Amino acid sequence: MRIGLSLRLLNDVSVEVKPYVQDHDSKKHQVKKMFDKISPVYDFLNGFLSLGIDRIWRTKALSYIPSNLENLKVLDVATGTAALAIQTAQLHSTVHIIGVDISDGMIQTGLHKVSDKKLQNRIHLQLGDSENLEFEDQKFHCVTAAFGVRNFENLEKGLAEMFRVLKPGGRCIVLEFSKPRIFPFKQIFGLYFRYILPWTGKLISKDSRAYSYLYESVQQFPDYERFTNKLKDAGFSNCFYKSLSLGICCIYIGEKS
Ligand SMILES: C[S@@+](CC[C@H](N)C(=O)[O-])C[C@H]1O[C@@H](n2cnc3c(N)ncnc32)[C@H](O)[C@@H]1O
Repeated sequence: MRIGLSLRLLNDVSVEVKPYVQDHDSKKHQVKKMFDKISPVYDFLNGFLSLGIDRIWRTKALSYIPSNLENLKVLDVATGTAALAIQTAQLHSTVHIIGVDISDGMIQTGLHKVSDKKLQNRIHLQLGDSENLEFEDQKFHCVTAAFGVRNFENLEKGLAEMFRVLKPGGRCIVLEFSKPRIFPFKQIFGLYFRYILPWTGKLISKDSRAYSYLYESVQQFPDYERFTNKLKDAGFSNCFYKSLSLGICCIYIGEKS
């Protein structure tokens, strides 16, 4: 009865899921604190817990970057340790990317990776709030976000900002976890995602909540059609989603006409 109730609450988008339940700080402040703390092990855990598939998901998302334009300007919001920004630069040789994130820890790790790969002239990382972008209107050809929008304090504000800074004709590419729908994969993956992943994540990251928050935030996130509707509400057109790995995550596309 209690489990049923808490799952229903997690599915209710009006309930805000925060990393540290006992803490009274805003979601944004808690998310920043959590990613600052786990930044040294974030990339390792991503690869370990997804068996390296996260890289393939990012590559698939990046196949939607328009290939017919030279010197594309891309904004990667919630860039974290620049995983998506680096893959973008490696796959599209003339693209310039700005990555913004609220977590200094994640940005610092990203800066080391960018300089190791000698990509400083094409990737610029900076601290910044995706829900309050400092860029002028219509600056970018493409805005990307991988596993970021679910962590926004105000999803609608974040999407409105992504829309504002896109040039007309520009494209928004979002990669985000979703809830598998197919029996029995839904049940098997659910066990892994709810119990095994948080336990392993806690053991390695030493943060008792980060990977439980991951499960909870995915349960609450408006996935599939609900997210494409959010994109439409933010002003995007030609919106669609493509589900990956039996629904573990989805690529969402929207364009600015
Ligand atoms: C799960 S990580 C994803 C990082 C990276 N995009 C990737 O693919 O690995 C989520 C990131 O979103 C960032 N974030 C959450 N809310 C944000 C906001 N309002 N503005 C900027 N970054 C934000 C967090 O600090 C964190 O680095």
